[in-house]
Amino acid sequence: MVMYIETGHTTPGLEIVIKLSRALGVDPRWFAFGNPEPERHITQFLGTPECDAIQAIFDLQAILNRRSGTIDVTYNYLDPLGAAQWVKLLEESAFAALVEAVPLQDAFVTIAKLVGNQPVDILGLGAGTARHELGLVRRFLARHHSDIRLLLLDISHALLSLASQEAMVQIPAKWNVPLLCVLGNFQALPTYAHVLDGQGPRCKVVCMFGYTFANLENELRFVEKNLSWLPADSLLLLDVPVAFARADSPHEIEQRDPALSNRRPSDWQRRAEDFATGPIRRYADGVLDVTLERVLDNRATTVPGSYAITASATVRFADKTTGNFSLGCTKRYDVSGLAKSLEALGWNYASHWTYADGTNMLCLFQRAKPTAWRKRRTGASPVKRPKKS
Ligand SMILES: C[S@@+](CC[C@H](N)C(=O)[O-])C[C@H]1O[C@@H](n2cnc3c(N)ncnc32)[C@H](O)[C@@H]1O
Repeated sequence: MVMYIETGHTTPGLEIVIKLSRALGVDPRWFAFGNPEPERHITQFLGTPECDAIQAIFDLQAILNRRSGTIDVTYNYLDPLGAAQWVKLLEESAFAALVEAVPLQDAFVTIAKLVGNQPVDILGLGAGTARHELGLVRRFLARHHSDIRLLLLDISHALLSLASQEAMVQIPAKWNVPLLCVLGNFQALPTYAHVLDGQGPRCKVVCMFGYTFANLENELRFVEKNLSWLPADSLLLLDVPVAFARADSPHEIEQRDPALSNRRPSDWQRRAEDFATGPIRRYADGVLDVTLERVLDNRATTVPGSYAITASATVRFADKTTGNFSLGCTKRYDVSGLAKSLEALGWNYASHWTYADGTNMLCLFQRAKPTAWRKRRTGASPVKRPKKS
C-alpha cells in the first residue's frame, strides 16, 4: 500500500491517512496536507539504577537502629515527604527572599558572552525545582538563541517532576527546547555522560544552585571525579555561601555566622531544623525528642579559606537509649581559595557576584583547554584571578 501511495498509483482515503499517521505518531493534518504539526514539548524522563528509594529507606533504618552513623542529606530529598518539606521551606519568606536575590541576570550576561552563538545545554545538577536553570533558559530564548536544551539531574523524583511541570509552563512549546530529566545520582555523573551529550559540539553550562555544592562532603573530589569529562570551555556556575570571617579566626566565625550565633529568623530556623531532622522523626521508632547542634568543623574542609558547619542530632528513644547522628555539613567559601582549588582541577575562574549583603555568591568557572591546564600543573601560566573581596 505504501509503495503504491509513494509511486502515485493510489491516493489514500481518509481512513488510511489516519491509520498511517497514528502508526507514525504524527499529526494526520500534517500527514495529509502538510499543515504544521501542533506544538508540543519534547520531554524525556530517564531513570537510573542509582536512585533506589526503597533500598535507601532500608539503609536509613539500619543506621537509625544502630543508634549512630551519618544520615546523608540525600535521604531528605529521596523521601517525598522530605521533598515536600523542602518545597515549603522555599516558600518561607526569609528563604524566598534569599532565592529571589540570586543575581541571575548578571551571571547570564557573562555566560551569554562566553557562549556566543554555540548551541548550549543548561545542565542543572541537584536541580530541585530548577527555578534558576529555567531562568537561564528563558533569558537565552529572549535573546533568540535558537539551539538550547535543558538537562535536569536530581535524585528526588518528586522534585524532578515539579521541575518538568514548571518547565512546560515557563517554556512555550513553540520554542522547541528539548527537556531531559535524569533521575540520577550526581556522584555517578560520568556514567550518564553519553545521554547528556547532544549531537555535535554543544557548550555545557553546569549549574549547582542552592548550596548543593557546599553540602558535598568533598567538593574537590566531586569536581575531579564527576566533571572532568566536560569539554574545554564548558562553564560551571556555583551558588555558595561566603565565609563570614577568616577560616583561621574561629572566635569571629562563631560570633558572625548566623548558623552558629542563632541569628536567623525563628520561623526559618524551625523549618530548617524540621527538614534536617525529618528522616529521623519519620523513620525511627520510639523517638522521644531530637536535639540539633551545629558546630564549626575545620577538619571537614578541602578548599583554602573555607570552613564547614556540621550538624549533628542527639535523639532520645522511648527504650531509654540515645542515638547520635551526623547530618552532614555546609561549607562557607573565600572566593580566592575556591578559585585556586578549582584552577588546579582545570577550571579557571571567570567571575563572581555576591548577593544578600555579601553572605552568598554565584561563582563562574570555565573549563581550561587540556594543554593549558597540564602546563599550569607543571609550571606557571597567567590566569584570571578574583579581586580580593
Ligand atoms: C539544597 S537542594 C537545591 C535544589 C535547587 N538547586 C535549588 O536551588 O532550589 C539540593 C538538591 O540536590 C539534590 N540532590 C542531593 N543529593 C543528590 C545526589 N547525590 N544526586 C543528585 N541530586 C542530589 C536534592 O534532591 C535537591 O534537589
